[in-house]
Amino acid sequence: MKTLLLVGFGDRGHVYAAEAEKHPDKVRIAAIVEPDDFRRNEAKERFGIAEENCFTSVEACAAKGKIADAVINTTMDRLHIVTSLPLIALGYDMLLEKPVTNNKEELLQLEKSAAEHGCKLMVCHVLRYTPFYRAIKEVVLSGEIGRIVDIQTNEFVALCHASHSYIRGKWNNREKCGSSMLLAKCCHDIDLICWLNNTAAPARVTSMGGRYFFVEKNAPKNAGTRCLVDCPVEKDCIYSARKLSLEHDFFPWLAWDCFKKDPSAVTMEEKEASLKADNVHGRCIFKTDADVVDRQTVSIRFSDGSLATHGMIAGVAKAGRDIHIVGTLGEVQGFLEENKFVVRTYDPETLFHKERTVDLSQNVGGEDRHSGGDSRLIEDFIRLLHGEPLSVSSTVIQDSVYGHLTVFAADESLEKDGEPVDIVFEDGGKRK
Ligand SMILES: NC(=O)c1ccc[n+]([C@@H]2O[C@H](COP(=O)([O-])OP(=O)(O)OC[C@H]3O[C@@H](n4cnc5c(N)ncnc54)[C@H](O)[C@@H]3O)[C@@H](O)[C@H]2O)c1
Repeated sequence: MKTLLLVGFGDRGHVYAAEAEKHPDKVRIAAIVEPDDFRRNEAKERFGIAEENCFTSVEACAAKGKIADAVINTTMDRLHIVTSLPLIALGYDMLLEKPVTNNKEELLQLEKSAAEHGCKLMVCHVLRYTPFYRAIKEVVLSGEIGRIVDIQTNEFVALCHASHSYIRGKWNNREKCGSSMLLAKCCHDIDLICWLNNTAAPARVTSMGGRYFFVEKNAPKNAGTRCLVDCPVEKDCIYSARKLSLEHDFFPWLAWDCFKKDPSAVTMEEKEASLKADNVHGRCIFKTDADVVDRQTVSIRFSDGSLATHGMIAGVAKAGRDIHIVGTLGEVQGFLEENKFVVRTYDPETLFHKERTVDLSQNVGGEDRHSGGDSRLIEDFIRLLHGEPLSVSSTVIQDSVYGHLTVFAADESLEKDGEPVDIVFEDGGKRK
């Protein structure tokens, strides 16, 4: 039995804790760090944590020495480094939410610290653990499609998700949340690209993008600043906060996070009053402090000459991620949300191609979050703690470094309107 220290018990903390609870013979949540009283007490009650193992800060917890076997750190982006370093120094193994950080110095500092303290540090790149990407990785590893020549991926962020997270919500502003759009949303996709093509190192990156639609100049004529307060066109606006948050109660854990209580306990009157007052989700979608891009393209050249491109477009009708990998012997093409992909190889008999479909839809249940990635990530973390063999998905910090450095380079290129940026590795690019 391994004991866990939960650092942060917000949305992701709840998801991973629920997954961990499914393995009572292997792990037990024995300690919590959470400054919010309601959430800390909720964790204390739910997991039966002793009072002396409940903390309001990492510093107070670290002062007690090592009190559990491992940490699950699900604090917000900006807090990952400051909350991780003191615990890594105590020798905790750790599952850390992405993005690790927004800069190279801290990324390498964390990697170094983990190595120095013998800490097994896994990053929550949940998509690697989905049956879909895991099966694609297995096809790549089998050699069936040969060496990778090119990878194309796209992520389409649906309108309401874009509104709640990246326009009105807590990842809408780089200064406030510490992450760019690419880092917050697509560090997964860039990580997948680097993981799938991991016989080479990403070497050069270009990127372009910007904010296109949800900006003030596109607001309807006479639009107000808060949908339920001063907007004469609210009734006809398809982006109205009333529609998204009151009528549909979209992503309630984000919309009602400000109440710091179970979203299902927030009354309709409280919701309406908060949207009228200072709830960020009550703002006109065209008049927020958002500064993260709503579309971005990234091109990557790897050390062996192979290429990859990723596109992120936010505000679309249908959400999803697609992928098309071309290898020297064949290709893989699929759409994550369908849990299916095809493998094509050249057929010398017909001069056309042979095709087989890999259908993983039976492997993913309706309750599975992140297309089955969340549960499988926790299973691998538990195996890591018990010294058991890991799946091909397993992402330790060293693997995540390549993806993060590529994201940083892409965002640097974006700032320079597409100028190429070379990625320089401290280790000389060990995959080269
Ligand atoms: N892997 C994924 O696919 C995925 C998906 C969504 C979010 N995320 C990432 O997960 C992280 C958490 O996101 P969330 O939506 O759960 O955030 P959240 O705000 O819901 O939860 C964070 C929790 O940390 C607590 N906290 C604040 N300061 C703290 C401190 N100093 N020490 C300990 N706890 C502290 C907060 O009170 C809160 O309960 C973010 O970095 C986010 O980018 C990852």
